[in-house]
Amino acid sequence: MSMKLSKKKRPRREDKIADLQWPLEEGVFDRNSLLTLEKFTKKGIFRTLDYCIAEGKEANIYRGTNKEGGHVAIKMYRLRSPSFLHMQKYVEGDKRFSHGAQSKQGIIFTWTRKEFSNLKILHAAGLPVPEPIAFKHNVLAMQFLGEEGIPYSQLCEVGPQNPKKDYATLKKLLEKMKRAGIVHADFSEYNILTDGTNFFIIDVGQAVLTTHPNAEEFYERDMKNLKKYFAKFI
Ligand SMILES: Nc1ncnc2c1ncn2[C@@H]1O[C@H](COP(=O)(O)OP(=O)(O)OP(=O)(O)O)[C@@H](O)[C@H]1O
Ligand SMILES: [Mg+2]
Repeated sequence: MSMKLSKKKRPRREDKIADLQWPLEEGVFDRNSLLTLEKFTKKGIFRTLDYCIAEGKEANIYRGTNKEGGHVAIKMYRLRSPSFLHMQKYVEGDKRFSHGAQSKQGIIFTWTRKEFSNLKILHAAGLPVPEPIAFKHNVLAMQFLGEEGIPYSQLCEVGPQNPKKDYATLKKLLEKMKRAGIVHADFSEYNILTDGTNFFIIDVGQAVLTTHPNAEEFYERDMKNLKKYFAKFI
């Protein structure tokens, strides 16, 4: 049975429009992000967005497919990221990006640029990170880490195969990152992917140069997190 709402009770047209717009603005697919994605497709970076691999605190990660049938990972930072205040701490003090006060959107764009730049440095130094492909505004395209279209697992999901050896390997990776001039600053079992044998380090938006005033503190914290996680297995 259909019920007719009286004219008075019917939602106002403007409220309805506001309701419809809200989820888009809260999520990642706002108009500008769609335009950025369109630019990526025009450049041939990907042809289709297949599915959302993960919804993180700050970004969503999608698997994309290019025209050769290969896969790419597309990280889209939410423009209404609730954690943007936390981002400031890792941007200010990094001589590459601290250029005075920035708008909320500016911080998120800088963060995306920073993650791309960190991946470039780490990839060039031979560290196992996804190869960066392109970035624009709040969207970052990078190498897809996975097999047959399935992303590798996070270390926290599968646990270490050989705890002692894996701890030593990951400790060495942190040391190598530092020698390359970068401190991860959010190193944990959540930001390490594994194929069962090898490890891959991801999520380097917050990573800072070793010249950052808090770099040493962040490095110690990364080492402590690693030790704490492996203490459960060793
Ligand atoms: N290059 C990649 N290839 C395949 N999967 C990836 C890639 N990058 C990220 N992922 C997947 O997406 C998840 C979230 O990625 P990432 O940690 O970079 O995002 P985030 O928004 O910072 O997340 P969080 O807030 O949970 O830390 C990862 O745990 C991993 O499963
Ligand atoms: Mg993460």
